[in-house]
Amino acid sequence: MDVYAKRASCTQPPRTASLRVSDVRKHLDGVDVLRNVSLTIEAGQFVALLGASGAGKTTLLRCVAGLDSINGGEIAVAGAVLSALRHRARRQVAVIFQRFNLVQRLSALDNVLAGRLGHVSAWRGITRRFERADRLLALECLERVGLLDYAMRRVDTLSGGQQQRVAIARALAQQPDLIVADEPVASLDPHSSAEVLSLLRGCCREQNVAVLCSLHQVSWAREFADRIVGLAEGAIALDVPVSAFDDTHAQRVYARAREVPPDSTKQA
Ligand SMILES: Nc1ncnc2c1ncn2[C@@H]1O[C@H](COP(=O)(O)OP(=O)(O)OP(=O)(O)O)[C@@H](O)[C@H]1O
Ligand SMILES: [Mg+2]
Repeated sequence: MDVYAKRASCTQPPRTASLRVSDVRKHLDGVDVLRNVSLTIEAGQFVALLGASGAGKTTLLRCVAGLDSINGGEIAVAGAVLSALRHRARRQVAVIFQRFNLVQRLSALDNVLAGRLGHVSAWRGITRRFERADRLLALECLERVGLLDYAMRRVDTLSGGQQQRVAIARALAQQPDLIVADEPVASLDPHSSAEVLSLLRGCCREQNVAVLCSLHQVSWAREFADRIVGLAEGAIALDVPVSAFDDTHAQRVYARAREVPPDSTKQA
């Protein structure tokens, strides 16, 4: 873990940068799915994104990750405007999905090495001839998530919680400025969920990476986030430090939806 931190600090400039979403608008099929969304996240901050189903959480995360275009406004990662970033520069944002999005027939190590693709030459990526330094970094990332012993195991032999930890290791191997995670614990049991969120928060602190993580459970947001941002019908409904978040805020986020928010005081 220390080695990883040292290498990361040697190879990267200090991360003062953050995510800046300014007045972002997104239309899908004639519907305003994101309405003038503005949001800033500093390095090392863990922000939970809450909102009822259909509020626009996935859409916002996909736009921030550069997977979807926006119809207005601006998104900047580490000071660089997203639309102006070339493909390789998008390595600044790592994405963690609910369904892990790993290559099932490959080993944990090979999946983590995929996080290095934005850093190596095209021929190394295609032939998967990674340099020793990349392999060492990938192993260190697996060690960070407690899966070094599973490096050579095919991913389809791992549990859901272990697979999500591999996905976190892949994100770390990318050495990003920002990690966006879309309901990363929605497929996991409470124990694995706590492990995964705790890991994400630890990485956020240790590597000074900003994390924007959508969650369906208010209790997880309260336990792990520094700040809670609520989306309702595509607009920011609240943006408060976790210490200030109370049931009134929860109601504001879920007010216009028929969905009842998960219990805000107990774990699942
Ligand atoms: N490809 C698409 N075409 C048209 N409408 C879409 C598309 N993708 C999403 N939408 C709509 O955009 C809105 C926001 O969807 P989004 O998936 O971002 O919500 P969400 O907050 O992630 O919901 P959930 O909690 O269920 O994952 C919804 O009304 C959805 O129907
Ligand atoms: Mg979603």
